[in-house]
Amino acid sequence: MRQYRGVAGGRQEWLDRPSYRFEHLVAIAFNTLGGSRDRVANALNGVWLGHPVHPPLASLTSGAVGTTVGLDAINLLPGRPKSEFRDASRFASRALGLGILASLGSAVTGVADWQHTHGEDRRVGSVHGVLNGLATGLYIMSWLDRRRGRHGRGILTSALGYGITVSASYLGGALVFGSGIGTDQSGARLRTPDWTPVLAVESLRNGTPQRVEVDGVGLVVCRTGDDGAVAAFGELCPHLAAPMSDGWVDRGRLVCPWHGSRFDIGSGAVVRGPSAAPLPRYQTRVNDGMIELRGDGLHALAAGRAVAK
Ligand code: FES
Repeated sequence: MRQYRGVAGGRQEWLDRPSYRFEHLVAIAFNTLGGSRDRVANALNGVWLGHPVHPPLASLTSGAVGTTVGLDAINLLPGRPKSEFRDASRFASRALGLGILASLGSAVTGVADWQHTHGEDRRVGSVHGVLNGLATGLYIMSWLDRRRGRHGRGILTSALGYGITVSASYLGGALVFGSGIGTDQSGARLRTPDWTPVLAVESLRNGTPQRVEVDGVGLVVCRTGDDGAVAAFGELCPHLAAPMSDGWVDRGRLVCPWHGSRFDIGSGAVVRGPSAAPLPRYQTRVNDGMIELRGDGLHALAAGRAVAK
């Protein structure tokens, strides 16, 4: 499933040691936040948005710095009046400032997403991050040079940084399209409008989700409390497709076994990331001792947002 043929970093195993050390530092930084840890992590992972925050910030970086590079190119055309040069230079600097801010935000959110990856995903993500860090450094140099009147050098460094950003974007695209990082990985949706019996309610143990299959779609069912009510969800975590049948129910939340995302058992909405997308939840009922369920192919009951708990 992970395919990075020819993509920089994918097979470079020597990257693993420094990247895991860096991840360790990231974990320590999050832990120093104490009680705010989950709130900050949710904000960075995009739980409030319903998808990761990193891609739009990366696009903003490319757009802003691309504007700078475009204005610089126009400024280099021969015969431009000095007043026009000054105006375009001012706008180029402002666009670059915006690009730097977006790039810093993109770096922080990118690290928050990257820390949960492994193997080739992690290596490609590491190269992607280092390249973007280099580009951001060049943007900052360029911005300072422009303020000090060194326009030639400023134009050169931002153009160089932009070239690096474009190369790094290719790796970001490989992570998304080659490996599904940042996409909803909860898999196929149930499209069965009729109530379908799946399991005797007696066979469910409290706190333990159990896998069932309906029309070729994998699901998990679990008790929602001591009152005998049951709930059904998609079998894969939307974050990185962990099998939710290996998870558990804790205080009204279904917990992912890999990175600890918590989903509200009443709606499937994300209570805690890193998953930004909700877990598909399906309608259930108990009929004559059998659990029955149905689904319309949508996040049947999920609001798609974090719930405040
Ligand atoms: S796979 Fe990462 S939180 Fe579920």
